[in-house]
Amino acid sequence: MSTTGRVAGKIALITGGASGIGRAAAQRLAAEGATVIVTDRDGPGAAAVAAALGAPHAAATLDVTDEAAWAAVVAEAVARHGRLDVLVNSAGIGRHGDIESTTLADFRLMYRVNVEGTFLGCRAAVGAMKAHGGAIINLSSVAGLIGVPDLAGYCASKGAVRLLTKSVALHCAKQGYRIRCNSLHPSFIDTPMVDAMAAALGDPAAAKAQLGRAAPLGRLGHVDDVTAAILYLASDEGAFVTGAELAIDGGLTAR
Ligand SMILES: NC(=O)c1ccc[n+]([C@@H]2O[C@H](COP(=O)([O-])OP(=O)(O)OC[C@H]3O[C@@H](n4cnc5c(N)ncnc54)[C@H](O)[C@@H]3O)[C@@H](O)[C@H]2O)c1
Repeated sequence: MSTTGRVAGKIALITGGASGIGRAAAQRLAAEGATVIVTDRDGPGAAAVAAALGAPHAAATLDVTDEAAWAAVVAEAVARHGRLDVLVNSAGIGRHGDIESTTLADFRLMYRVNVEGTFLGCRAAVGAMKAHGGAIINLSSVAGLIGVPDLAGYCASKGAVRLLTKSVALHCAKQGYRIRCNSLHPSFIDTPMVDAMAAALGDPAAAKAQLGRAAPLGRLGHVDDVTAAILYLASDEGAFVTGAELAIDGGLTAR
């Protein structure tokens, strides 16, 4: 266990840790002294991220829609480390589709992963953290703050994550649990998720440039733009911040 860094000594569990924002969060929290449990439904991918970080970091296969798997992974973390201090709910999926073209199957899939997955994570983490406190950070999206015409199901799911977060925050405050719960709302961040979105739009390079121009700051976000906020909220620097929603969007939602 590291004794230096902004999250020194904390035990942090990250979902969707094999890729993108989750992987970058694992790397950043580890660099700042946390012991990280990297999880993903992609078990080998999570294991590779943890292996690159080295001991004492670990990995687990976790499909966030699997209630029993959540119980097992959190129980294992507590058994091994004695506590859980930080949960980053980064696992998520997106499918294009407006209200006319979105299939019920796609809508349900996004709801299951993005909303039910975050709900199960929050519930499991509150159970593990309530004796000593902790921090939960939920990845919503700008699409959880404003409507996007061709992201009907994604918007619905990320809007639900925003208000689930506030409900968790208020419950924990009311119970005196010292657990903070906050949501992050990135715009387009340069990860495999945006690569897939750009590929679906045709010329990926041109599409990514166009997505970057959507933000007043004129560029795509970088994973470090998001992990800076994760680190702040995970650390004791964020001790008075709960139920908050932070847009990391280059000004996209400011107008
Ligand atoms: N990249 C962006 O532009 C952007 C913007 C706003 C919000 N977000 C949100 O941030 C989070 C991370 O996005 P990203 O860009 O890193 O995506 P990504 O596709 O790079 O990574 C997502 C990870 O989640 C995992 N995952 C998917 N379904 C899962 C499940 N059921 N159980 C466990 N793991 C699962 C995938 O295997 C993958 O490793 C998502 O919730 C996403 O909606 C991303």
